[in-house]
Amino acid sequence: MSEQNIDLVIFGGLGDLAGRKLLPALYQIERSGLLSERIRLAVVGRDEIETQGFLKYAETRLKQTLAAPDWSDAAWGKLARRFSYLSLDFSNKKHYERLKAWITPERVLVYYLATPPSLFGPISQHLNDTGCIDAAARIVLEKPIGHDLESSRVVNDTVGRFFAERNIYRIDHYLGKETVQNLLALRFANRLINSQWDNTCIDHVQITVAETVGIEGRWGYYDQVGQLRDMVQNHLLQLLCMVAMEPPNSFAADEIRAEKVKILRALTIIDASKVEDHAVRGQYSAGWIAGEPVVGYTEEAGCTNPHSKTETFVAIKAHIDNWRWSGVPFYLRTGKGLSEKVTQVVIAYKHHPHAIFPDRQDAGMNRLVIRLQPNEGIQLEMASKKQSLKDRLSLEKRILNLDFFDAAGEVRIPDAYERLLLEVFKGDQWLFVSREEIEASWHWCDSLIAAWTAEALKVHRYSAGSSGPAKAEMLIERDDRSWFGE
Ligand code: BG6
Repeated sequence: MSEQNIDLVIFGGLGDLAGRKLLPALYQIERSGLLSERIRLAVVGRDEIETQGFLKYAETRLKQTLAAPDWSDAAWGKLARRFSYLSLDFSNKKHYERLKAWITPERVLVYYLATPPSLFGPISQHLNDTGCIDAAARIVLEKPIGHDLESSRVVNDTVGRFFAERNIYRIDHYLGKETVQNLLALRFANRLINSQWDNTCIDHVQITVAETVGIEGRWGYYDQVGQLRDMVQNHLLQLLCMVAMEPPNSFAADEIRAEKVKILRALTIIDASKVEDHAVRGQYSAGWIAGEPVVGYTEEAGCTNPHSKTETFVAIKAHIDNWRWSGVPFYLRTGKGLSEKVTQVVIAYKHHPHAIFPDRQDAGMNRLVIRLQPNEGIQLEMASKKQSLKDRLSLEKRILNLDFFDAAGEVRIPDAYERLLLEVFKGDQWLFVSREEIEASWHWCDSLIAAWTAEALKVHRYSAGSSGPAKAEMLIERDDRSWFGE
């Protein structure tokens, strides 16, 4: 694809997301020489500062965020020259004239909305009304897209009135992670793995996204949302799709997205009759994490409801109703305030049908553990003969290890936002979420929420710094299985 002249306009450029993710990503792309000379950048914010004021802020922020060895005056100088700052009240249509004066019609316009979703509609409308959009203009939306199926439709319809679906880039930053893309390589570039990837060989799958952080000062937002909407509806279901989808015909965006939608639509609905056995909700209470005392969820700053029943942990036993995965449970769990930060997928293989090793020592020997963060890598657990003259043919578990993480820190794994921005510039949607995916995943989550509301599913307390509520252990142990690592 030939390079295009692009104007990237970031709404909310002084906000938290821009400071933590977008500015560092743009800087790293610049530093690695991948930011085309043909890209100009505008940051749009409410504050009345000039471009010089913004650059001062951005430099300080970047120096705080980046690892010291990553700093280069030359790279920053190059990036800084691309920026303009435009002071603009998002809700004031007249102010968009300032933007109109900055954009150049023959360039591809990309609007990145790092703003609350409630502004997606009004900003799109004002961009349209002031002539800041043409047929090729792209828009990048951060999650959440709605809080249920209905509200997601409203957001998508509103934005869709001004931007064609092919120009709407819905971010799920997990898709930008190198290791998540590596799932595609692992599955589809390795015949060995691919040929064993179904219910004839796989017993069950575990997907864990555990975080040590709490709700990071976002009580007001989070309490309306909870862990299912914050993490499962998007990140965990996207991971599940990457693990479960059929091989796409190619890596073209439409092909991949069509396969993911099929999986989301095949998820068995967890209704009120099943919810007690298929879902566990939890909420952290005070505890200790890494030697530091941590307050409970309802003692967090900003808490307005000390009796809140919002879940900060959820574990789910999911099923995919299709040929490949029939009978294979997918155990999902995610929570905040847990003992460690880890994102991993575990593929547990079936036992052999016939026992020829004494005491069924071969049982449960094969597991593929895909660590997505931190310490990215893949481990394959295998049975091997114990090297001993005493034992006739005893087995032990040995591990084949593939490390992507470089403990010496010489190889930097790019952040998800670097990849995603580059794909937006290229105009390639393969790592972005389609409207159909959003709707299918909301449909499944809405049913689960309706079921647990109808059954008043208990919210189990767990101490911050633990591995979640004991009930989550039972969810899997009831099936004679256990969470990996416990
Ligand atoms: C965000 C959630 O989408 O993902 C946060 O809103 C969560 O609550 C974050 O902490 C986790 O992302 P990562 O990349 O740190 O695993």
